[in-house]
Amino acid sequence: MLISGRGSNMIAIANNIRSGALPGVEIAIVISNTASACGLAVCRELGLPSAVFLSKGRPRAEHDADVIACLRQHNVDLVILAGYMRLLSPEFIAAFPNRILNIHPSLLPAFPGLDAQQQAFDYGVKVTGCTVHFVDEHLDHGVIIVQRAIPVLDTDDAKTLSARILKEEHEAYSEAIARVASGDYEIQGRRYIKRN
Ligand code: GAR
Repeated sequence: MLISGRGSNMIAIANNIRSGALPGVEIAIVISNTASACGLAVCRELGLPSAVFLSKGRPRAEHDADVIACLRQHNVDLVILAGYMRLLSPEFIAAFPNRILNIHPSLLPAFPGLDAQQQAFDYGVKVTGCTVHFVDEHLDHGVIIVQRAIPVLDTDDAKTLSARILKEEHEAYSEAIARVASGDYEIQGRRYIKRN
């Protein structure tokens, strides 16, 4: 699992693993690209193994090579981006084809990039949500696995909206991981199809 910040999605997934909701899934290693990520302190509390590879000022491919080596050392099968605010190099994506998942706080393809919740709020959409997708070489673009929609309320501001989206993220990510871990799916073009 790769994080850069508070790691609330990581915590939600770890809790679901603990409660038995994600059979066969375990977190092999949590990697942060910043030393100050609050999620790292949570890893210590939860007893999750963690590592830091600082990305600031380093060429992307060089930093990614360290991360890939660490993931391989831990024999990971799936790479879960959980608030990892760094683009992956083509080498990283090629190292784990269709095995990297990301969560994004909008209904893609609407509002890719930074501050998706604020973008949706400012645009005035009436429905938004979150998307879990496979990562490909384009930003917030890969095949969609799960989406959850919520209404934008007249009483919302970007903060209340973000909080309600985050609640959905915490469920949607585990649902997507369970689906992918089960292997019961196929990808046809841009479509993720569940087999049963
Ligand atoms: C989440 O809202 C996630 O969707 C978003 O960052 C937040 C991380 O929160 N990711 C992106 O915007 C990626 N484009 P967390 O650290 O508490 O999981």
